[in-house]
Amino acid sequence: MTTPTKILLLTSSILGDGGQSRGLAEHFKHQVAERGDVQITERDLVADALPHLDSAEFASWMVAEEERSAEQRELAARSEAALAELFAHDVLVLAVPLYNLGIPSQLKAWFDRVLRAGQTFRYTENGPQGLVESKRAVILAARGGQYVGTALDSQTPHLRHMLGLMGIEEVDFVYAEGLAMGDRHREASIGEARQAIGHYVSSRL
Ligand SMILES: Cc1cc2nc3c(=O)[nH]c(=O)nc-3n(C[C@H](O)[C@H](O)[C@H](O)COP(=O)(O)O)c2cc1C
Repeated sequence: MTTPTKILLLTSSILGDGGQSRGLAEHFKHQVAERGDVQITERDLVADALPHLDSAEFASWMVAEEERSAEQRELAARSEAALAELFAHDVLVLAVPLYNLGIPSQLKAWFDRVLRAGQTFRYTENGPQGLVESKRAVILAARGGQYVGTALDSQTPHLRHMLGLMGIEEVDFVYAEGLAMGDRHREASIGEARQAIGHYVSSRL
């Protein structure tokens, strides 16, 4: 028997089950449901939200494990859990709404826990080097307007650079855009995104 592909699915819509990115995530899950060779772990970064990273938590990372206070152990555990979960999976699926031209702050809070020097990347004389090997990512992006290919799409390079910093270079994007631009536009866009998800699942997983 082959080892199953392990997928970590992170959702971050503040609209819960009504969120369009959640809908894309559900479609992704549905597409892989029949596959015995794929396992999904799902985490709702809004329901299970991490607080903003602050100085006390950041400082806890700098203290050797055996020297941490009880409070520092608790603070460091947030990042350690996120890192362990990341390293335990092969494919990262991020369902990402566009909020105020960026990613949800809850998703940024997750990146703030996993983008750690010495853990997922290191600084070298030639610049940062990613330490996360053999992983890839797919982004399921839901947006009210249309931005792909324009300077306003800061979300795409931001996600690519954060993942790239860790060494995750293979990143695919599925976009459902124009979701606030009328029913016809929304339905067509979601239909295309669902098709792209089906294609990804059948050809890439
Ligand atoms: C707080 C908030 C901010 C938003 N900001 C933008 C925006 O800057 N540009 C845009 O095109 N759509 C914006 N939208 C629309 C969302 O991108 C759209 O509703 C999308 O479906 C969000 O994903 P979700 O449904 O999974 O939450 C915003 C929606 C909310 C709730």
